Amino acid sequence: RHSFSHKGIPFPAEIYDPETIDFVGNHFQVLDDDTFTVTYPKSGTNWMMEILSLIWQQGDPSWCRSVPIWDRSPWLESPNALEKLKSAKPPRRISSHLPIQLFPKSFWGSKAKVIYTVRNPKDLLVSLYHFSKLMSFLEEPESLEELLGAFLQGEVLYGSWFDHVKGWLGLRGRENFFCISYEELQEDLRGSVGRICRFLGKDLSDAALASVVQNASFQAMRDNPMANFSLMPDNILDKSKGSFLRKGVVGDWKNHFTVAQSERFGRAYRERMQDLAGTFPWDE
Ligand code: A3P
Repeated sequence: RHSFSHKGIPFPAEIYDPETIDFVGNHFQVLDDDTFTVTYPKSGTNWMMEILSLIWQQGDPSWCRSVPIWDRSPWLESPNALEKLKSAKPPRRISSHLPIQLFPKSFWGSKAKVIYTVRNPKDLLVSLYHFSKLMSFLEEPESLEELLGAFLQGEVLYGSWFDHVKGWLGLRGRENFFCISYEELQEDLRGSVGRICRFLGKDLSDAALASVVQNASFQAMRDNPMANFSLMPDNILDKSKGSFLRKGVVGDWKNHFTVAQSERFGRAYRERMQDLAGTFPWDE
């Protein structure tokens, strides 16, 4: 499998190209009414996309059930989606995994909103490990140990998780930036949806909120062909090897990490994150 590196960040060459990444950073025109959902891969991107789709429709699930998730919130750095985005009618809903230094420069002078979702990196790593077995454009790691080493070195798609999170969290306190964790969504989906609505300036009725919560549940998404990735061709996602909506829980790392791996990860985490103020739900 091929990958290329753009300003030090590795990308799988099967689905991305350097020209598009460069165009997005330097020339993509962000509009004030754009809303971006940004994540490091496997942090709950598609969950947030589904939640936002439902919020925009006042809880009505018909759009979510009729249009594939990737067309509802096109992928900024994907060459095909970018073409569609250029002609999309505002207000635009856009998804991205880009680290902040590769994000469009025009974002900085805009009022566009960013929702950034973070997840316990240990669970994220387990999710990535299984995901790598399904996706044709990712190298299948020999073991979790091997992937853990690559992850701590930032030698995985989209580069270092630590840099990604620290880069984006530098925007905390700005009016147009909202950060939420996968763990908060799990802990209190209804309350989280309420907070997201307030950030977006959306006022949903109790019935609409309840519908968002119901239709964005793990089971509802698994049952929705427009959200469960069953429409993804087999040569990209090998469905015989597992499911994109794999387990959808907090703490699965405990079933995968050895004590030594957990300690190794913890040491690297403390070292890399010590300069970041604040705590996450997974911090001890
Ligand atoms: P697991 O592999 O741990 O199950 P992304 O969309 O960023 O690729 O993240 C995928 C992860 O989010 C997967 O984690 C997937 O199961 C989980 N996920 C997706 N939808 C979810 C939902 N409605 N509730 C809980 N987890 C969800």
